[in-house]
Amino acid sequence: MKTLKTILAGVCLAAAATSCNQTVQTESGNAVIETIMARRSIRKYKAEPVDRETMNRILECGINAPSGMNKQSWEVRVVDDPAVMDQIKELMAASNPEIPAEAVKGCFRGAPTMVFIANDPAYDFSVIDCGLLSENIMLSAWSLGVGSVCLGSPVRFIKNSPEALARLGFSEGYNPVICIGLGYADEAPEAKPRDWNKVRFVE
Ligand SMILES: Cc1cc2nc3c(=O)[nH]c(=O)nc-3n(C[C@H](O)[C@H](O)[C@H](O)COP(=O)(O)O)c2cc1C
Repeated sequence: MKTLKTILAGVCLAAAATSCNQTVQTESGNAVIETIMARRSIRKYKAEPVDRETMNRILECGINAPSGMNKQSWEVRVVDDPAVMDQIKELMAASNPEIPAEAVKGCFRGAPTMVFIANDPAYDFSVIDCGLLSENIMLSAWSLGVGSVCLGSPVRFIKNSPEALARLGFSEGYNPVICIGLGYADEAPEAKPRDWNKVRFVE
């Protein structure tokens, strides 16, 4: 009983600290900014999928993204079983015969864990909801040592494949909009350039 009370007290303290202290300071500055600036798209992964505990933490961060009217107008499917991953790739390749099968299968960039995100087209800001969910997933993943890549190309193949869509099991009316590959990075790419000319203060 005493142990339980100690654990509960610890959890409450941690929750209170999180709700009051919005900025996580690190030795060199701010953990959020460090993560944003250090994240890179990863296209070469080690074979092992992200463990479920870490993945659940990442997904929890995903669904804590803001969403219009808190509608959470997305559905998320996670594949980390190599057999299921192969099935989805096969189904996509079979439904897109005009594209070489290897190109279709390679569109996951070798990520051992895939997150598939579908939106509710009945809500006009639903794609934004999906984008915010996605960025939370990628940033929290990076902060936990997990690499990721946002993937648009599989969406086209999946939309063309009723069988792959059925296997993912999205609800009726939901459309796949984006995928995220995740895994432990086996490369350390340089940052891609950004265009500050697109940003301007209006004075
Ligand atoms: C909507 C969207 C779709 C993307 N689709 C793909 C894709 O199909 N394949 C891929 O390798 N990278 C894809 N990317 C990753 C981008 O190429 C990458 O984010 C961009 O080059 C900037 O690099 P960085 O993420 O390392 O900063 C996509 C990114 C976004 C946001």
